Amino acid sequence: MARKKIALIGAGNIGGSLAFLCCVSELADVVLFDVVESMPQGKALDLSHTLPVFNSSVRVTGTNDYKDIAGADVCIITAGLARKPGMSRDDLLKTNSKIMQSVAQGIKENAPDSFVIVVSNPLDAMVTLCQRETGFAPNKVVGMAGVLDSARYRAFLSEETGVSPELIHALVLGGHGDDMVPVRSATTINGIGIEEFVSKERLLEIETRVRGAGGEVVGLLKTGSAFCSPAASAIQMAEAYIKDEKKLLPAAALLSGEYGYEGLYIGVPCVLGAGGVEKIVEIELSDDEKAALDISAGKVKALLEQLP
Ligand code: LAC
Repeated sequence: MARKKIALIGAGNIGGSLAFLCCVSELADVVLFDVVESMPQGKALDLSHTLPVFNSSVRVTGTNDYKDIAGADVCIITAGLARKPGMSRDDLLKTNSKIMQSVAQGIKENAPDSFVIVVSNPLDAMVTLCQRETGFAPNKVVGMAGVLDSARYRAFLSEETGVSPELIHALVLGGHGDDMVPVRSATTINGIGIEEFVSKERLLEIETRVRGAGGEVVGLLKTGSAFCSPAASAIQMAEAYIKDEKKLLPAAALLSGEYGYEGLYIGVPCVLGAGGVEKIVEIELSDDEKAALDISAGKVKALLEQLP
């Protein structure tokens, strides 16, 4: 059986981390693409030297030519600018829209059968633009945010309770912005409601931290945004597709009536498998959670009006 191929569009910090994870896990051969000359080739050469150490048999190459992504099963797009301290993800819209338009063209022409995972910000607008420009079926174009935002919630809850994050399940829905919606009613430790472990007041503080966690990292790094956790999250989604895992994960998917929204990409629980987004799952939300989701969806809609 031929190995699968992942094309990483953008060889910055997240792209490099994604490639490293593919090398360690042997998930697929990797093509690292970037417009910056020789940089993806340099990262690929360095990464190829980890393969003997990991006993890994994948191939990793770097390129500046979209032709080399031909035959990719999965494309993960991280291309675009990252935030600097004081910036919101939305401030990146203008620059990253232009980049996304050319990336979408490159993917459309060279990897028309791929499953596309968008990571670039502002996430919900960029995944919308990518689907429009590629014209790919909505189930083949998805945005990565919910896995990351939920992982942040789980990490903070693990710290708070002293329980391993493995059995902490949390769900963060909505747009990938400061109005994202941590769904407390779907947050449990091994099936036991989170309010049994953490007081309501403390949960409010933790949820506020979750909403700002990407910005907290940017504020500390000063030169860019988070990259290890976004890469780990996107790989989990790619793996669900490649291995047909049918994993229920929060992801930005194009809604057609679910949760009361039409034609809008926002974070919702999805089943990811060989069919891409195989199903969007509608869960019961409390009135407060639904109101919060409306605010978040409204912010995404407003941003879409600024798309080219
Ligand atoms: C973050 C960026 C990747 O949330 O959106 O860290």
